[in-house]
Amino acid sequence: MAQTPTSVDFEKIRNSSDGSFSGMLYSGFNEIISNNPYFAAGGGLMVLGTGLALAKQGITKSSGFLYRQMLVDLEIPSKDKSYLWFLEWMSRHKQRSSRHLSVETNVITHDNGSISTNFSLVPGPGKHLIRYKGAYMLVNRERSGKMLDMTNGTPFETVTLTTLYRDRKLFSDLLSDAKNLAIKAREGKTVIFTSWGPEWRPFGQPKSKRLLGSVILDDGIAESVEKDVKDFLSSGEWYHQRGIPYRRGYLLYGPPGSGKTSFIQALAGELDYNICILNLSENNLTDDRLNHLMNNIPSRSILLLEDVDAAFNKREQSNEQGFTSGVTFSGLLNALDGVASAEECITFMTTNHPERLDPALLRPGRVDFKVLIDNATEYQVKKMFLRFYENEEKLCQEFLHKFRLLNLQHVSTAQLQGLFVYNKRDPQAAVDMIETLQNPNTVF
Ligand SMILES: Nc1ncnc2c1ncn2[C@@H]1O[C@H](COP(=O)(O)OP(=O)(O)OP(=O)(O)O)[C@@H](O)[C@H]1O
Ligand SMILES: [Mg+2]
Repeated sequence: MAQTPTSVDFEKIRNSSDGSFSGMLYSGFNEIISNNPYFAAGGGLMVLGTGLALAKQGITKSSGFLYRQMLVDLEIPSKDKSYLWFLEWMSRHKQRSSRHLSVETNVITHDNGSISTNFSLVPGPGKHLIRYKGAYMLVNRERSGKMLDMTNGTPFETVTLTTLYRDRKLFSDLLSDAKNLAIKAREGKTVIFTSWGPEWRPFGQPKSKRLLGSVILDDGIAESVEKDVKDFLSSGEWYHQRGIPYRRGYLLYGPPGSGKTSFIQALAGELDYNICILNLSENNLTDDRLNHLMNNIPSRSILLLEDVDAAFNKREQSNEQGFTSGVTFSGLLNALDGVASAEECITFMTTNHPERLDPALLRPGRVDFKVLIDNATEYQVKKMFLRFYENEEKLCQEFLHKFRLLNLQHVSTAQLQGLFVYNKRDPQAAVDMIETLQNPNTVF
């Protein structure tokens, strides 16, 4: 195509520049000048070209210098705890201008079983401007290219906050605001962690604490465990001075539905601890992962190993079937022994079949406190009845009398709860229906 000498070829400018604005300017000038017959001769062109190149360099350098002098960055990688806190904080922060949001849906199951959903619009990847305590901050949320967190398949992300150098102190204010917000949301709640690849992740929403008094164990049992745990927690110095690893293992064993899991959850609530639940029969749990998880328990958490016997039964079965097993027995023992941190470590284990456990697991240092949580005793029946039906002493006596007559020795507390819940407002009906407890599989 014919071209007038002074026309400007924009396509060429774009192609020959490096894409930046100053680069375009530079090659744009080159284009105009080389197309101009007066400049084509060369002299002026050379001078101008050199001048522009120098100017470009100068601008880049000085803007970099100014940036370094006047602005500060704070980088929060997605690996860091404060990452989620920050996003949540920002979704509630009023003074922000973001047009690019992404949604995080929380489904909350209430105690009465109803479900409500709550959408938080967190800032999506991209740039956002916020105002915090009078200062402007630029928030840039980026996915780092093709890098994937291989453990859970999510892309690595970073959030970078940029603000003026003089406002740099606000970063720590902001982070502690975000942390306080997160902690407030958990107040009065117990967070349940489960393993997610090699790390612990909160499972569902934090649960309301269960009152310790609502789990009725046989006379004195709850108190003795509670006393032991509290005593352990206050003896850090004692362990330290004697060089003994600061950990304690508890084993609650007994028939199903006797309140083992409920008691541990209530105890965690009482101590203001969270719970890390690990299922040893999980297929893809290996010795290495177990060891890593047990050595990286979030602070103020109780480690709960449910159905410890299951892991070993499963192992025998899978060997027969030719599968490679997950955790090995020695892997578990090593992981239990290896937990060595300055912080306390409380491990609770539960099982319905204590006879299947290897004595090596039960030796002191791995299990220091062993207690049977059995089927309902008369003491428990009485307490539970009166907890469900306040002041119904007379009916309670009647219920107990029938309980004895029927010789109900293998009734779990979960069964009792079932009967009382079915007859919520009618204690007489509960007394009349006591025969149903003879069959452990009654469904009301
Ligand atoms: N002693 C108890 N006091 C109050 N509630 C109880 C008690 N035992 C069981 N329950 C109720 O029964 C249900 C099951 O209890 P839980 O899961 O704690 O039993 P478990 O001993 O852990 O059983 P499993 O051995 O099968 O895991 C819960 O809803 C709990 O509220
Ligand atoms: Mg249980």
